[in-house]
Amino acid sequence: MSTFVVVGGAGRTGRRITERLASGGHRVVVAGRSTEPPLDLTAKPDPALFVGTEGVVIVAEPPKEPDAAEAAMHGGVAAIAEIAAREDIPVVLVSQIYLTRPAEHPEMSARIDARARGEQALRESGAQYTIVRPSWLHDLPAGGVRVEQGDTGEGRVSRDAVADAVVAALFDPSASGKTFELYDDEDSPRPDWPSVFAALHPDQ
Ligand SMILES: NC(=O)c1ccc[n+]([C@@H]2O[C@H](COP(=O)([O-])OP(=O)(O)OC[C@H]3O[C@@H](n4cnc5c(N)ncnc54)[C@H](OP(=O)(O)O)[C@@H]3O)[C@@H](O)[C@H]2O)c1
Repeated sequence: MSTFVVVGGAGRTGRRITERLASGGHRVVVAGRSTEPPLDLTAKPDPALFVGTEGVVIVAEPPKEPDAAEAAMHGGVAAIAEIAAREDIPVVLVSQIYLTRPAEHPEMSARIDARARGEQALRESGAQYTIVRPSWLHDLPAGGVRVEQGDTGEGRVSRDAVADAVVAALFDPSASGKTFELYDDEDSPRPDWPSVFAALHPDQ
């Protein structure tokens, strides 16, 4: 039985990721500010939480206040990435669209910028990683999904589809070093994740 840490694993997408891992027979450590043990991304994470695990998912909502967003989504992600690189643990980071075009959403530009720095810290950490960028999330069942790279799209996507992508990426080395966006699309099939990951361009 493998152990995975899901930071934000009690949230709406995190819960779906946790359920999928648990139903695959894995042990899941759900980590957040109100869990036991607690993990607050704005503070320095305890490496002991991650040692001996087979993978980490970060699926936390950024704080609204800019300094806290920077501490969590840049500092916290970078700190976990550093531990993951040292311990050789793959990381899947759930991010968002608009990362490369914050001017389109000035009301959340501080959160977007902090996230962008966190993404980059993860890429440069030396850890094996995948970055999943959902569009606007909803709770309806997953259907067809369009997978894009380059952060130019608009749309929404099911939290179930995001959870499917995250769990598939955790177990698939061909997802490593790749960043992609997810959108509902009735004209697209339900993804065959190994084929999708294999066709994606690696990050520069
Ligand atoms: N809403 C959207 O349309 C949208 C679009 C694109 C991307 N996203 C991103 O997709 C992910 C999942 O979204 P969701 O709506 O499913 O999440 P959610 O239900 O809001 O859950 C977020 C989780 O983040 C945890 N969290 C918040 N601050 C934290 C901190 N400082 N340290 C550790 N954990 C923290 C919370 O746990 P505690 O309260 O216990 O700490 C909670 O379990 C998030 O990263 C979100 O930003 C959302």
